[in-house]
Amino acid sequence: MTTILVTGAAGFIGANFVYYLLKNRPALRVIGFDALTYAGNLETLEAAMQNKNFRFVKGDITDVEAVAKVFAEEKIDAVVNFAAESHVDRSIEDPQVFLRTNILGVQVLLDACRANGGVRFHQVSTDEVYGDLPLDRPDLFFTEQTPIHTSSPYSASKASADLLTLAYHRTYGLPVTISRCSNNYGPYHFPEKLIPLMIANALEDKSLPVYGDGLNVRDWLYVEDHCKAILAILEKGSVGEVYNVGGHNERTNLDVVKTVLRLLGKGEDKITYVRDRPGHDRRYAIDPTKIRNELGWFPETDFDTGMEKTVQWYLANRPWWEHIRSGAYQEYYEKMYGNR
Ligand code: NAD
Ligand code: DAU
Repeated sequence: MTTILVTGAAGFIGANFVYYLLKNRPALRVIGFDALTYAGNLETLEAAMQNKNFRFVKGDITDVEAVAKVFAEEKIDAVVNFAAESHVDRSIEDPQVFLRTNILGVQVLLDACRANGGVRFHQVSTDEVYGDLPLDRPDLFFTEQTPIHTSSPYSASKASADLLTLAYHRTYGLPVTISRCSNNYGPYHFPEKLIPLMIANALEDKSLPVYGDGLNVRDWLYVEDHCKAILAILEKGSVGEVYNVGGHNERTNLDVVKTVLRLLGKGEDKITYVRDRPGHDRRYAIDPTKIRNELGWFPETDFDTGMEKTVQWYLANRPWWEHIRSGAYQEYYEKMYGNR
């Protein structure tokens, strides 16, 4: 049986990827590895724990011994690395943990792949490594050839990891791939990020903090389409290659917030313009031609459908985000594993 190590499995996209694999590749063994930082939530993996093909391991990707232990215990055929500090605003407040996890953690994983006979490694990266595009040039898009030009400590750390990953391919011949995706949205999105924050605040009749003029543009992709792209790259991608992932779904932040309010049947009176994010990237826009032409990938969920599903999910799973907002989710690991 093929075994895949999914690092960062208790986070937003990692957990969605675990569920995507268990559903679409039922013959796989999936090992979820996660340090359970503030962004990791084991409640998210509760249903996966019932599946005999899934195992959860609590561990830090910067911990050489913990990573070596999971490689010794399981015959791992591929690693998909989602583990990261992922929130731009936090990277502006405190960059160091971003460099530790996002760069040194990747080095530890790459070394473990080398030490175990050249295990296939996929790095989940981001369109933010390309910097931003001007609002008045809608004809411009990020391609895989766009120069790296980062803005925040977060994006600089992700770009560093990409360079390191490609260096391990060139120097050691490690079979690696990289995906650079645009903004994801969907179930299990941590409510510090724009869409889930606005849904939760609107449901609690709190103010909706829009940074700056609200006209920054993000290119939104439903999380399941990102999962589908990563699996396509893992199964059919060429090693040593970078693949951009995005679905031509550009929206201003203000449009996104108004969409949330419309779907919830709420007025716009709680929208509040707040101080802008320092170094705030103006526009992201992915050109997905390469992954479409070479791997046949295309997004299945359009923005209207995806937003409808997402809002419905947050309405139906109120305890999930309420536990996060109250901090209760951090007791879950102790409760489930404290005596094991
Ligand atoms: P997230 O913050 O929701 O989840 C990150 C997970 O990594 C958490 O479960 C956390 O506990 C875990 N983690 C953090 N540090 C760790 C460490 N040292 N060791 C082990 N686990 C650790 O992030 P996300 O939004 O799911 O993003 C996942 C990946 O996808 C990240 O690498 C991010 O850069 C990338 N990405 C995200 C988006 C997006 O829109 N969210 C878009 C493109 C790429
Ligand atoms: O593009 C991919 C990236 O998307 C990923 O690499 C990151 O991990 C992920 O967090 C996301 O980064 P963004 O900075 O684009 O996402 P965020 O949800 O933090 O913000 C989206 C936009 O909304 C951004 O322009 C800032 C703005 N914003 C955000 C928050 C949290 C607001 O106006 N108000 C807010 O309260």
